Amino acid sequence: MNPASEPKIAVRGLGKHFYTKGREFHALDNIDLEVRPNEFLALVGASGCGKSTLLRIIGGLETLTEGEILVDGRAVHGPGRDRVMVFQDYSLYPWLTVIENIRFCRQLDAHARGATTADAASAVDRSYALLALMGLEKVKDSYPNALSGGMRQRVAIARALMSRPEVLLMDEPFGALDAQTREVMHDLILHVFELEKTTIVFVTHDVDEAVYLADRVVVLAPNPGHVDSIHDIDLPPPLERDQDLKLAPDFLAQKKTILDRIRQTTGVQRDLEMLERMTRHLRDTASTNQGD
Ligand SMILES: Nc1ncnc2c1ncn2[C@@H]1O[C@H](COP(=O)(O)OP(=O)(O)OP(=O)(O)O)[C@@H](O)[C@H]1O
Ligand SMILES: [Mg+2]
Repeated sequence: MNPASEPKIAVRGLGKHFYTKGREFHALDNIDLEVRPNEFLALVGASGCGKSTLLRIIGGLETLTEGEILVDGRAVHGPGRDRVMVFQDYSLYPWLTVIENIRFCRQLDAHARGATTADAASAVDRSYALLALMGLEKVKDSYPNALSGGMRQRVAIARALMSRPEVLLMDEPFGALDAQTREVMHDLILHVFELEKTTIVFVTHDVDEAVYLADRVVVLAPNPGHVDSIHDIDLPPPLERDQDLKLAPDFLAQKKTILDRIRQTTGVQRDLEMLERMTRHLRDTASTNQGD
């Protein structure tokens, strides 16, 4: 068990260097981060600042170069059943139906562990419960290519939840969906978060999404990737949130603080200030010339 005071995930002094064709690239530098049990943590930051790399290292899909990652106090050295990843591109098996996709990994797992009939029955119950939770009952026998993007991502999330992972690692899971479908998925994932009591680390480009979903938002800065700032989000409990909240002054203020940090860390702010100076200079020059 995880005592309440112990972080679910602890990232300590993490560094990552890639070596390709004899060249070194310093992707992440001295990352220190803790994720609390049953916390929803969002990672945001400029493209290329290392969000996916950090998530993949936590998931054990990528090695680290320096430091360590602890889950429940134990060092992570590879993938584990306690951590499951969900990606933007769904990664469903096209030759399996929705229900078969949801059960697939669990079945492999059951074979590996020599599961009993009772295990199989509870897996069937669980897959039906997830179908209901995700609103997929009507399409359970359809193949992925017959589904919309939102539906496919629901299947991918249901499949990820099948083994009751303690940690869900999501890399821009709604990045390919249209705005309306994303909103539905936001409320759905908050329900999942409440019901399943998982810990979620969620990578996104969308600051609205990060503020709406997360307990804390971490801004990563680039060159090399490092933690710029961590923001506590103060919103009503997950199931009491609704989309109108995104228009509330308090929500907009929290979003602006984070956007400002991202702009500062990427140099966008500098570019905007330079553009403003140039525009002012051109305007002044034009009015001086008119005065001549
Ligand atoms: N396997 C690899 N080999 C070499 N460099 C890599 C590798 N994977 C990632 N990188 C580099 O590490 C940096 C961080 O990449 P990463 O994909 O983690 O960024 P990101 O923040 O997720 O970006 P985006 O927001 O565009 O998804 C990038 O400069 C990328 O080119
Ligand atoms: Mg990425």
